[in-house]
Parts: sequence; structure tokens; C-alpha cells
Amino acid sequence: MVRGSKCYKVLQARGNANFRCLISPGCKAATEAPAEGTILRRNAAPISDSGYCRSFNYAAFSSTKCSQPESCTRIPLNLMRALANRSIDVSSLGASSSVQRTPVCSGSTGLIGSGGGLQSVRHLQTLAVTPTGPKIIKADTEETIEVSVDGHSLQIPKGMTVLQACEVAGKEIPRFCYHSRLSIAGNCRMCLVEVEKTPKPVASCAMPALPGMKIKTDTPLVKKAREGVMEFLLLNHPLDCPICDQGGECDLQDQSMVFGSDRGRFTDTKRSVVDKNLGPLVKTVMTRCIHCTRCVRFASEIAGVPDLGVLGRGGSEEIGTYVENLMTSELSGNVIDICPVGALTSKPFAFTARSWELKSTESIDVSDALGSNIRIDSRGPEVMRIIPRLNEEVNEEWISDKTRFSYDGLKRQRLNEPMIRRPGGYLEPVTWRAALSAVAQAVHQVKPEEMAGVVGKLADAESIIALKDFLNKLGCENTWCEGIGANIDADVRSKYLLNTTIAGVENADVFLLIGTQVRKEAPLLNARIRKAVRNNRAKVATIGPPIDLTYDHEDLGDGTDALIQIAEGKHPFSTLLSKAQHPVVIVGAGVFERSDKDAVMAVVETIVDQAKVVRDDWNGFNVLLLEAAHAAALDLGFVPGVTAKLLSKDHLKFLYLLGADDIKPDDIPKDAFVVYQGHHGDRSAYRANVILPGAAFTEKEGTYESTEGRTQQTSPAVPSVGDARDDWKIIRALSEVVGVQLPYDSVSAVRARFLAVSPNLFRVDELEPPTVWPQSITPRSSSSKIESSPFIKAIDNFYMTNSICRASRTMAQCTSAFANLKQI
Ligand code: SF4
Ligand code: FES
Repeated sequence: MVRGSKCYKVLQARGNANFRCLISPGCKAATEAPAEGTILRRNAAPISDSGYCRSFNYAAFSSTKCSQPESCTRIPLNLMRALANRSIDVSSLGASSSVQRTPVCSGSTGLIGSGGGLQSVRHLQTLAVTPTGPKIIKADTEETIEVSVDGHSLQIPKGMTVLQACEVAGKEIPRFCYHSRLSIAGNCRMCLVEVEKTPKPVASCAMPALPGMKIKTDTPLVKKAREGVMEFLLLNHPLDCPICDQGGECDLQDQSMVFGSDRGRFTDTKRSVVDKNLGPLVKTVMTRCIHCTRCVRFASEIAGVPDLGVLGRGGSEEIGTYVENLMTSELSGNVIDICPVGALTSKPFAFTARSWELKSTESIDVSDALGSNIRIDSRGPEVMRIIPRLNEEVNEEWISDKTRFSYDGLKRQRLNEPMIRRPGGYLEPVTWRAALSAVAQAVHQVKPEEMAGVVGKLADAESIIALKDFLNKLGCENTWCEGIGANIDADVRSKYLLNTTIAGVENADVFLLIGTQVRKEAPLLNARIRKAVRNNRAKVATIGPPIDLTYDHEDLGDGTDALIQIAEGKHPFSTLLSKAQHPVVIVGAGVFERSDKDAVMAVVETIVDQAKVVRDDWNGFNVLLLEAAHAAALDLGFVPGVTAKLLSKDHLKFLYLLGADDIKPDDIPKDAFVVYQGHHGDRSAYRANVILPGAAFTEKEGTYESTEGRTQQTSPAVPSVGDARDDWKIIRALSEVVGVQLPYDSVSAVRARFLAVSPNLFRVDELEPPTVWPQSITPRSSSSKIESSPFIKAIDNFYMTNSICRASRTMAQCTSAFANLKQI
């Protein structure tokens, strides 16, 4: 790394508290420059087994060569696709040693801004970089223009702003209001640069780059102008950094150190602004606000809830909710990340820790089936907060409030030791040996057809395959995953996955949503659909329970009548769907549990066939799974076998619940022996005869597959609680006690088993598209008759969908605050 380059400055600015060099762990980067080629990562989050970097969020790669260019599999997936889309000469990235192959994340840790920095990835994915000179763009089809930045000439695509041109040139421009995913506001004036032949410094974020422009970013005039702006910004900022939760990760703090002056001329009393109540999640200290309006633009453009706005003018300007109101969005927590100062911070995290005390672990979210990329910040054995990681193809840089704030549920109602229910009805803590022996004894007293195994919503693929192998070895085929119905078709992947992909949804122009409340089931997918509505003027129609989706849509009713009419070509929407260039049909969880599911799916597939939703170049047929465990369970065939007899009071004698909490106790026969393996003392634990404590997703390395078929892994951020163990280990130990020993002793051996059953689960961080289509999407004949009954709501309360949420006090507060609001 070159001394004085961006990353080194970041390290200097941050005092090197949260960074460790992966290559030279002892390196004190803040006092001595790391060697050239060093890769720096926040808090030594582990590089994956194969040696390539798992993520480029929070990585300081600027001006750094990739240490594993040949084995890096992220580049083809993320960077190359972006490059290919922009018609940029990809070959120039590979061979030349002077060209950077690793994506750049300029300042994602703070110098440029928590939100603003992340945007750089998207822009710089399109660029090749030489460490010493300007970045070279080779565009075949896009028109380019030539500009000069600080004396270096460079070609940039037409339409870029001056700020983006400076980024291309590797120049750092401070900014507060600019954010690449939001519209340009141009109201902080921090991004001033000098442009030849203009009388005054210009706001680079709002000025389009023009051919022949000569831009100067490092002149005395620019320095003075930025110092002046910073002086104005600090005029009313309270400078209460010692008691501000943003301290240590504040853009204003960082940028004032680098671009501000060491003195101010204003001696007036600072103004104060009344704090606003945005709900139980976002804490406001509005006196700190610098009126960048990022939060206002996020709310109205991304979240689709125009709850925030600017009130007053001049010295009376305030950010507020017009009339006193809560922020009614399931994405509201993201304003915490994009606020460049401490005006909006996390209420549950307030005053609990400082950012430099935390250990960060890169992981994924399991609260829905999207597999959002997250960073778990922990201190000792406690998860302190969860924030998003950048993944353009999954969650961009956002996460839902359930992902972000339900972590306090990990500390409550935990099962921390094995227990056996005694004749008096109370649960007695016992040793693992005693608990496993009790289960083995019960297993030996029942026939295989009297047993059943149910997988819950949060189970990882390792435990699912272990439970399947264990029960199959005993001769039991009564296996299913709760929430996806008893008779789901798991033979063809394209029939149960989101084939268009999460990012691909943005390209669609017509949507038909069937039996899904996508805003509740997958908020970030809903944000993508909203993007398509805004950018492509996409038309959306819904058949199912009414819901406010945050964008215009046509409600075609909550029953199956409209569906049948569209299939018969009698509904006006069928013409719209047939004429669409990129039509998308999404079938949601409201369909899975219907008794006429097969008939409904047959009608859907007729629509798909007639409207040519699946073509050689486009697959618009999608199933939106509801839970994190579903895709892996279906891939591994955790569905009822041919001899299965589903839950029936007549024959069930032994029930193994792997984190399954949605089975009603009344549905379980009184004399059945119930084993509950899980991490929370939730609903099913009350009915269990034996409780086996398992580790939560923050405590283990588990494999999950998202609804689009992307395999990802969680990483252990904190130790497991008490005597709890990884779920697959418990099942492996039990198999030995029962006498049907499973043939794996290590997690790698379990994963080797994936190779035999579902090899895509072995390829972590890769999206495995379904291999069989469009032939598989042919209308199926269904013997069952379609009913006109309405589609049910799969989720009643967005904040209470799994055992972790139900144990969370924050989620309970959200339930009580938003219970009467019909939007969420
Ligand atoms: S609250 Fe934060 S994000 Fe919103 S305008 Fe103020 S400084 Fe910007
Ligand atoms: S970043 Fe350009 S005016 Fe705010």
C-alpha cells in the first residue's frame, strides 16, 4: 500500500482501533505504513477457507493489489458482471499487474461516509486502476468524455458527475449529502472543487462532468472553501462527541479532522432542536442534524414511506415528521447507517458500547429467506448490534428492522442445558448422556412409521441433512419443513426458487404477485420491486390479502377468481402480462398451505406458459420462500417420502422437532414422545419430553441457502450458551447412542455429504441457478379442484415470526407501537 493513500488515511483518522493487517498481523498501521500490497480488513474478520475474501464491505482495498487474484471467485460474480453490463474491457483487469482486480470500497469505514462510502463500490466496480495514475476506462459502447483531474487526463462515461470523475481519478472528495443510491440534493456544499474557468468553487456532486473540464481538487482555494463549509456546519452542531453514540464512526468527526480548520469564528449560542419520536428503533438528537436530507430521501425513495421531511427555513430548518408520527417502515433502521452524524442512532444500542470495543464478524441473516449479508458486532459473549454488509446482489447495503434489532432475543429465554420432563410435569436439567439415552430409549419403543421429524425455520443445512440421514437410517420417511406445506414439489429446483434472482427483479416491467405479502415476507425484495416501479414504470398486480406495498399496484382481489380469469385470457391483466418484455410472476407463502395448492399451481403454470414468462433469455417464474431453512430443506429432500403418513393423531408416537415451533400442541397426540432441539424455550419446548439445547445462528458456522438459490454461511460471533451444541453434532451423538451411527465426525465431513445430495450447498457464496428450465415449467395437470377461498396471510405480525423475535423486547415494543398501523 502506498503511504498516504486513502486507506492509510482512514487508519490514521481512526487511530487504527478496529483494523488489523491480515498479512502482517503485528503491523501498527497508524504509526508505520503497511507494505505495498497489504490488504487491510476490519477486525480481522476471517478470510474464507479457500483464501479469497468473502466480502469487500469494510475492507480497505484502495490502491491495493489482490493477494489471491487467481483464486478469487467474487470477482467473476460481482465485479465482472457489472463490468460486462457496462461493456468495459474486462480483459484489461486480469493480466496486467499494474491493474487492480479487487473491487474498491473507498472509505466504507468512515472517511467518506458510512453511506456515501459504500456507494463507491458500485461506481468503482466499473473501473480499472493503476496504483499511481488515474483509472483507465475502456468502454466499447458507452460514450465517453475526457476530463482532467489534478492534471491527469482520463476518460469517463458521459453522464458522470464531477464528484464521480474525481473518484475515478482516485481523488477523495468529502461529502455529507451525496449518496449514490439517493437522488442528488447538493445541500451540504462539502464537496467543493475548483473547475477551470468557473469563478467560484463548485459542488462536485451536483455538477455534471463535461468534455475537456479541468478539475482541481487540491488547491488553496478548495482547502479554504471546505474549511469554511465545515466551520458553518459546526456552527450549530453541539460538539457533544464524548456522549454521542456516533463517536468513533461519525463522518462529521472524521471529515472535520481531515478537511476542517482547527478554529472557528462563530461565538453565538448554538441553537437547539426538539427531538422527534420516530418509534422504538431510531433515537433522535436533532440538534446534531446538519440537514443533509439523506434520511428524508431514503424514506421517500427507498423505503417508500414519505414520513420524514424538512420543516422551516434558514435557522429554523428542522427534519421532522410534519405531524407527530412514527416512522412506519420495516426498513427504518437504515437511516441510522446513512445519517452522517449522530442525529439518528440506534435506540436499543444507545450507550451500550463504543465502536472500538466491538469485535466484528461477517455473517448472514436468517430472519427471512433472502440471506441478507450482515456484520455482527459483539463484546465478549454478547451480541451488541447487527449492521448490514454490502452485497449488491442480495441486500445492497440495507437490512430490515427485524434483522437489525431482534438480536436482543438471543439473550433471553435461551435453552442452555439438556432437560427431561419428569412424571410431575416439570423439566429437570440432566447430563447430555442422560438426555440422549432417554431419546434412544423412546426411539427403540416405536416403529419407524410411528415417527416423524420436523425442521424449523432457522435450521442450517448441516443439521437438516444430519436429521434426514438419522431418521432415514431408522426407516422413517415422515419428514417435512414447517411453513412450506406438506406436499411441496421438491423435484425440480426451478419450481421452488426465485428464478429471476433478487437483483434481476429490478429489470422486470410487469409483476403478478400471487398469495404473497412481499413487504412483510421479504422487505428487501419489496424494495427491489419498488425500484423497478420507479425506474422502469413497472406495473404491479396482486392477488392475495390486501397490503400497502409502498408503490402503486392493482389489487385483483384476495381469492382465486382473478387468477382463473387471467389463465383463461379473460382478464385485462392477461394482455398486459403477455405483452411485457420482462414479466415476473411471484408465488408466495399464502399458496403453500392451501389444500388446493396443486390446483392453484397448475393455474399459475398455465399463466406462465401462456404469457411466455419463462423464455430462453428470461425466467420470470418465481416462488418466494418464507424462511431461511426452506431452500436447503427442499434441495436436500427434507420432504415426506413415498411411505410417509403425515402428522396424524392416530399413529404418531415419536416426534423430533428441530427448532420447529409452529406445530400446535393440540395436534400432537397426548402419548407421543416429543424431542425438542433448539435454542429458545419457545412454543414447542413446553410440550417437549426431552429438550436438547442447540446453538443459535450467531454461535455456529452453518450453511444456508437463500430463496434465489445462493449458498452462504454464518460465522460464530459469540460462544454458544451453557451446554448448547451445534445441532448437527447433537444429532450425530444421538445416532451413536441409538445405534445407527452417522458417518461423519466433522463439519467438513457433513458438507462432503452435500456433494452427494445437493452439490450446490457445497459452493459457498455462489448462486446456483436452476438447471432445468424452461422445460420444467409446463402446465401440470391437477386432480384437485381449485377453491375460491381467499389466500391467507402468511405473516400476521412482521416483528414476531420466529423464536428469536418472540424473545426480543425490542420486537415486542415494535409490535405494541405499530400494532394499530395497517401498513406493517
Ligand atoms: S437526521 Fe441525519 S440523515 Fe437526516 S438530515 Fe439530519 S444529518 Fe442528515
Ligand atoms: S455532497 Fe455535494 S453538496 Fe453535499
